[in-house]
Amino acid sequence: MSNNKITIAIDGFSSTGKSTVAKQLAKHLGYIYVDSGAMYRAITYFAMENGFINDLNFNIEAIISQLDSIDISFKFNKELGFAEVYLNDENIEKDIRTLEVSSFVSKVATISEVRQKLVEQQQEMGRHKGVVMDGRDIGTVVFPDAELKLFMTASAETRAIRRYHELLERGNNVNYEDVLKNVQERDYIDSNREDSPLVKAEDAIALDNSNMTLQDQFDKILQLAKMTIEGME
Ligand code: DC
Repeated sequence: MSNNKITIAIDGFSSTGKSTVAKQLAKHLGYIYVDSGAMYRAITYFAMENGFINDLNFNIEAIISQLDSIDISFKFNKELGFAEVYLNDENIEKDIRTLEVSSFVSKVATISEVRQKLVEQQQEMGRHKGVVMDGRDIGTVVFPDAELKLFMTASAETRAIRRYHELLERGNNVNYEDVLKNVQERDYIDSNREDSPLVKAEDAIALDNSNMTLQDQFDKILQLAKMTIEGME
């Protein structure tokens, strides 16, 4: 048996459960998990904290001019079993998961300068393979040569219900209609932006998990990963 490590790219619409399965898979295979959406959220959070973005104002020039002073890193948290995201050495894992950040992040992700910075960092993180990365453009732009590409979908309602429960569990006071609206808006912006829109890579395997349990989904994806790894031996 060889020690061939592969790159696994998981793309799809928001709240399709990409990160849940990506984390499980990385843990099982002893790979690194990278949540690329967290990086777009970190920049959005930075912009909000600095007053570049609010309900009335969206200052793209200010965001671009400050990109060099934004350092995003991940540090593994043993208790949680995954890496948390840090902005200039401050743990912002919880701060980036709010509906407010979600409502601005897709727009921030349309800025080419932001994408260029993050894609470079993502490619560097995956340089040695053995990585599971989830996002919107991983199989198309970040790792077009990834050995295994998955494209996850589920109906907007299914995804909104999942997100709604997640936010409630985290103590966020939200209502379902707002969450559904956010999911639909992000689908639209992510799929229609000019730079690296969310599309299925030609060689990605599509997976609709609307009616799958987490266990079914994990089993299926693990099987695909094992087959891909074995195929390289
Ligand atoms: O996966 P997520 O919901 O945390 O991602 C947040 C936003 O970031 C999403 O609406 C679009 C953007 N994104 C992106 O454009 N490219 C990626 N690779 C990951 C996320």
